[in-house]
Amino acid sequence: MYSSSENKEIILKARNLLKIFGTGKDSVIAVDHINFDIHKGEIVSLVGQSGSGKTTTAQMLLNLIKPTEGNIELNGIDIRTFQGRNRIKYWQKVQGIFQDPFSSFNQFFSISKILKDSLKILGSNLKSGEKDKLITESLESVNINPKDVLDKYPFELSGGQRQRIMIARIFLIKPQLLIADEPTSMIDAVLRSNILKLFMKLREVYGTSIIFVTHDIGLAYYVSDRVFIMQHGKIVESGDPEKVIINPQHPYTIKLINDVPILHQQWEFKLS
Ligand SMILES: Nc1ncnc2c1ncn2[C@@H]1O[C@H](COP(=O)(O)OP(=O)(O)O)[C@@H](O)[C@H]1O
Ligand SMILES: [Mg+2]
Repeated sequence: MYSSSENKEIILKARNLLKIFGTGKDSVIAVDHINFDIHKGEIVSLVGQSGSGKTTTAQMLLNLIKPTEGNIELNGIDIRTFQGRNRIKYWQKVQGIFQDPFSSFNQFFSISKILKDSLKILGSNLKSGEKDKLITESLESVNINPKDVLDKYPFELSGGQRQRIMIARIFLIKPQLLIADEPTSMIDAVLRSNILKLFMKLREVYGTSIIFVTHDIGLAYYVSDRVFIMQHGKIVESGDPEKVIINPQHPYTIKLINDVPILHQQWEFKLS
């Protein structure tokens, strides 16, 4: 098993991140001066109830929205330098997947075209044969037979297949950091556990760091090296899940744990 504790190389730093939406009386502080580092190859869960600021944090880390204050560094470089044409360079290194993986894809494109387009992010001038080989390998990584999906369209696939193809895209691009915003909240327990196993594999094979956004503290417990508990835009408690979830200190963490009636049942999906 990949051990993040032996490897403390920092790939991403977030300092004093603040995001305020709107102005004046109608403004909302979505993220309130948060600070953290992400190490190479670690899985960090960002946990909090709806409205706590998780997605806003994820979008800032993905360079999709700008912080009101504060800054983010990727490999020591301020991400504000990745502007315009350079943004694609950021997305070679930091990729996101979302709850509804195909909302951002054109429903009228075949899976083959979708994956070929994903390869464009790498900006490489690969020959057609090399592209096909990479696409085949990425689909096999997520246990999909390429023949079953390449000529199909998103709407012809099951939810589980769509999630896997979303992850195949990540195996294709091989980012340093994957930000997964509630990717398993719309799927059943078996599929969820398969997706989480693929995350583990991604980290094991490529040393990918993963920020796993979830409202489910039970899930966070068994997938993460560290958890960050978020409330009203602030990280109120963080650390080793054994420490934070088994021995919570902050009242909000205790509340989150008490709000999950079947926490122990969820732990039965523990990955072997
Ligand atoms: N584009 C936006 N405009 C205005 N308010 C927003 C916007 N996005 C999020 N918010 C507000 O910011 C807060 C945090 O939202 P969000 O980051 O989506 O939380 P979470 O992902 O934890 O549910 C919420 O109060 C939400 O209503
Ligand atoms: Mg959200």
